Amino acid sequence: MNDSITTRAAGAAPATAQINLRLLADGHGIIESHHGDDEQRFAPPADFAAQANVGAEAYVQASRDRLGFWADQARQLHWHREFTEVLDWSEPPFAKWFADGEINASFNALDRHVLAGNGDHVALLWEGEPGDRRSITYAELLDEVSRLANVLTDLGVEAGDRVAVYLPMIPETIATLLAVARIGAVHSVVFGGFSADSLRARIEDAEAKLVVTADGSWRRGKISPLKPVVDQALAAGTTVEHVLVVRRGGNEVDWQSGRDIWWHEAVPQASAEHEAQGFPAEHPLFILYTSGTTGRPKGILHTTGGYLTQTSYTHRAIFDAKPETDVYWCTADVGWITGHSYVAYAPLINGVTQVIYEGTPDTPDWGRWWQIVERYKVTVLYTAPTAIRSFMKVGRETVLAHDLSSLRLLGSVGEAINPEAWLWYHEVVGSSRAPIVDTWWQTETGAILAAPLPGVTSTKPGSAQRAIPGVALDIVDDAGTPVDPGSGGLLVVNEPWPSMLRGIWKDPKRFVDTYWETFGDRYFAGDGARFDEDGDIWLLGRVDDVMNVSGHRLSTTEIESALVDHHAVAEAGAVGIADETTGQAVIAFVVLKRNQHLVSKSEAEAVLRRHVADLIGAIARPRRVYIVAELPKTRSGKIIRRVLRDLAERRPVGDTTTLADGGVITAITAQIEQASTVKPG
Ligand code: PRX
Repeated sequence: MNDSITTRAAGAAPATAQINLRLLADGHGIIESHHGDDEQRFAPPADFAAQANVGAEAYVQASRDRLGFWADQARQLHWHREFTEVLDWSEPPFAKWFADGEINASFNALDRHVLAGNGDHVALLWEGEPGDRRSITYAELLDEVSRLANVLTDLGVEAGDRVAVYLPMIPETIATLLAVARIGAVHSVVFGGFSADSLRARIEDAEAKLVVTADGSWRRGKISPLKPVVDQALAAGTTVEHVLVVRRGGNEVDWQSGRDIWWHEAVPQASAEHEAQGFPAEHPLFILYTSGTTGRPKGILHTTGGYLTQTSYTHRAIFDAKPETDVYWCTADVGWITGHSYVAYAPLINGVTQVIYEGTPDTPDWGRWWQIVERYKVTVLYTAPTAIRSFMKVGRETVLAHDLSSLRLLGSVGEAINPEAWLWYHEVVGSSRAPIVDTWWQTETGAILAAPLPGVTSTKPGSAQRAIPGVALDIVDDAGTPVDPGSGGLLVVNEPWPSMLRGIWKDPKRFVDTYWETFGDRYFAGDGARFDEDGDIWLLGRVDDVMNVSGHRLSTTEIESALVDHHAVAEAGAVGIADETTGQAVIAFVVLKRNQHLVSKSEAEAVLRRHVADLIGAIARPRRVYIVAELPKTRSGKIIRRVLRDLAERRPVGDTTTLADGGVITAITAQIEQASTVKPG
């Protein structure tokens, strides 16, 4: 029996992605069967369900008339010119949504609320890392955005021009995105932790005319310089004509007169009158670079009308946004898609009050986030499993020391949330009361595609549950045939959706090759998944992170989930390394919780190898489990398995530009060396 799926993984080059169909089918699924709690379901609390924005009828309405459903959601926005056409899919994979309509993103996020009499409603509750605070109303934000729009125009920025944004999490960042959108220019945010080289590559690819940055920002009690990085990125000469600089860190910066402009000298002086004009729905809104399988980042392109429609709809439906009463906090940095869709756009489009925090969760200590939740009475919290696991490691006392009774809904994004972390999040953060929405989506999808509806769905820890209303997901084999429940396959999107990427900047061929070549006009997400018997979706990790041991294919997610299932484990990364006999061998890297009771590293290794074998089967028993202090991660907190693989195979570590902390490589190498002198437990 051939139990592998051969397909084109993400990236232009052909690759083999393999999913263990036999193991998944025989073992009846991975995550569920390992935890013995697969029957555990959490029905929405009755009071939550009774007041939820969206009920079960949304599924019915959307399945009866999918395009009519999306048209209704689009009509919740203000259109400068009404659309008459919903979807044009005549030239797949190039979709056009609401194409003859005209819209302005900034008008929808700001003017509309002010015109409706809600100008005094607080838009942003901002807290700097040192503890400084600002509260900004919709009217005040509109004022700032209008002035900035005039400044940008005066600097020669026109509709369609690209503006690079290299800023920390400060109110000016939100204002920048909205001002750029207001004049029809295209923002390209580069995460503030990226190096000068990465920034330069992105500026060059987008041919940006202007960069907006800050002198520096606060991180872990110190100033992290930004302007010097921009200076370095621009040193060799670029398309950039001006650099607009926010004073935040107060650090000394070099100044290139004529090119550099202080925000505080330009923006307050500019006129606060600015009329937002409508742009065609398919006018580009932003580019956001993300890594593919090749070293060259892909500039994911999003346009306006469909993106605003789906981000705002999902925010209303999945986060149950209530503008009068909610205090919403999404902890994502604006450098990532989550910080675009669910910080800069959807919450403002929906008129809610949101919290923005500049710094790290452990400054001055791990209580910081919970202090913020308590202070602002946050009602909806949206964060990532990696953060939750960090808090698990620190211990629940840190969280429980604060009054979190305001929280009514919790969200998760970025990777599959292992059931143990889900349950901890539910119990410790959500007081066993707040529903959890695990949201599956990607930079490319623009908005959430799979998640529970919090007032409708009985949630299952670890499952992303259902396609949202109006989205058609399927799980298929390499021939594109839907697989049976319980069997692993490839996640595809069957129909175009409003917030889908419209292309890769300047590279339509790569767009087609990466996402559309495998299954024709169905979008290939690059993720493995399976449906359970109830039709709920379980994500199994990227198909390029799959291992093959003695002809058995194992998903990294399943091994990591098994490791994290052990009470002593805080975090785990698993990789397959080359092995002459078995093809690949599983190597795991594990961070233990503080105060765990395993006496030595070799005992821990023995216990954890056995634990994985017990949960999955002997085939999955890791060859080695290295106990390490930290895992190599991207700045957004994703474990970089490629680096682990290099380290485990003792070869030089390749590209490390996405690594948050380079020191981790030396530390792990030393830990591996030390462990090699000890017989595996
Ligand atoms: O593998 C999936 C994983 O993150 C990938 C997308 O990463 P990115 O474009 O950086 O966007 C992250 C924020 C939307 C997906 O292909 N992923 C994201 N959310 C989940 C997830 N995997 C499982 N469950 C999720 N909820």
